[in-house]
Amino acid sequence: MNNSAQCDIGFIGLGVMGKNLALNLADNGYRIACFDLDKTKIDDTIKQDKLENGSDSERIVACRSYTELLAQLKAPHLIILSVPAGGPVDHVCSHLIDAGIDADDIVVDTGNSLWTDSVEREAKYKGKFIFFSTAVSGGEVGARFGPSLMPSGDPYAWTRIEPVWQAIAAKVDAKTGKPIESSTPGKPVTEGEPCTTYIGPVGAGHYVKMVHNGIEYADMQLICEAYQMMRDGLGLTPVEIAKIFREWNQGELDSYLIEISAEVLEKVDEETQQPLVDMIMDKAGQKGTGLWTAVSALQVGSPAQTIAQAVFARSLSSLKNERVQASKVLKGPEMPSLSDAEKQDVIENLRDALYCSKICAYAQGFQLMDIASKEQNWTLDFAEIAKIWRAGCIIRAVFLQSITQAYESDETLTNLLLDPFFAEQITKYQMRWRKAIADATLMGVPCAAMSSALNYYDSYRSDILPASLLQGQRDYFGAHTFERTDKPAGKKFHIEWSQPGQPQIKIKK
Ligand code: 6PG
Repeated sequence: MNNSAQCDIGFIGLGVMGKNLALNLADNGYRIACFDLDKTKIDDTIKQDKLENGSDSERIVACRSYTELLAQLKAPHLIILSVPAGGPVDHVCSHLIDAGIDADDIVVDTGNSLWTDSVEREAKYKGKFIFFSTAVSGGEVGARFGPSLMPSGDPYAWTRIEPVWQAIAAKVDAKTGKPIESSTPGKPVTEGEPCTTYIGPVGAGHYVKMVHNGIEYADMQLICEAYQMMRDGLGLTPVEIAKIFREWNQGELDSYLIEISAEVLEKVDEETQQPLVDMIMDKAGQKGTGLWTAVSALQVGSPAQTIAQAVFARSLSSLKNERVQASKVLKGPEMPSLSDAEKQDVIENLRDALYCSKICAYAQGFQLMDIASKEQNWTLDFAEIAKIWRAGCIIRAVFLQSITQAYESDETLTNLLLDPFFAEQITKYQMRWRKAIADATLMGVPCAAMSSALNYYDSYRSDILPASLLQGQRDYFGAHTFERTDKPAGKKFHIEWSQPGQPQIKIKK
């Protein structure tokens, strides 16, 4: 043990998220030893800390090497990584091994890592140090003043990390489920329920965060579709649409993503004085977590079409040049001319469509986690997961309180749509949802995510689907067999669909 060791936590990686997490930890009384390959990032972090806390602040100590970082830490060492997912995580881990990290030291990966990488890393580093993972949501501001944290891994490591995560996580008013906001450096929120809970064995936290991001993609796409319908279908301006979003944000749709959408739409470009949204290139980027969610849904056979549609919508948007060419060739329907009252009706339909579609996107996300949880033996606690998404994270929304209540009142709930509250909500709003999609379709305005959500709802509530015909087709051409409705489940049948020697298709002359 190094007697000169002064620091509680080592922090590696001081990009946007890392710097803000480190400052948040320091605000909560932890002395931090920090390191980044880019020395200017260390200097920036310390400069900001001194600016916020006075020039004699020694809350954050600069280290120039991995060895120096370890020497600064009280043992056993607790080291947090905020480096890009993939290779950089292993790069840092191998440097820590070279620098002499101990077997009972803990390394926590907080990046947007692929959950299977976390599982492999725990095994790979066993005996060298304890690899623990914590997925973080909340962007830059969340990291600084309270993120939602999804930790998973070794239960012993969790006992050491828990108080740290509870201190820095976003806080929620337990009664209302609303975030207790803070944005003052040096003054962390100390009351309320922290938005962190032990998710399960390593990998589980990053899986849950991955699904959070899949839902985030769907949520964002649904809002964008409502925007496009109001813009192209109704001819409203960005500012008019922002006003509508602000109204929607007073009710069931109250959420961070609606709030920031209104702000984006209100923003004027300083250079051109045009709405900034019209100056932003309409090609969506993606770092991969939404795609991972869709891939995982396909792999485990969990229907998550609204999430997948949101990923495809981003891919389609990126084909800008092709779309511009196609727009000159492919014609849509004539736009109807609507009275103000008719426009108002369409807007109300859209609100309900957005709400119902959002319920379906969350239902898909929770259903996916349920299937994955069973497959991986994780026993995920969905009420707890909904609880820690009520504040700090990007999908924070008032209706996560209703999701919390749904899983609290029935922890075996198979699908959110079957919760009495949500079932009743959709029954109440479904006609307007259907009309909104019909309106958009007739006007030629795309609404892939909204209509996929409605299709999910209509398929899920169908006791009979045309998969019977599909099974017949499979058996016809490939002898793939089928089960019968009047015989025990699992018993397979195959019939000869055409008589030998006879053509399978008869062509009438
Ligand atoms: C969060 C965000 C965060 C990040 C996404 C952006 O929860 O804080 O989801 O993880 O903003 O990775 O992802 P895309 O670049 O794929 O939109």
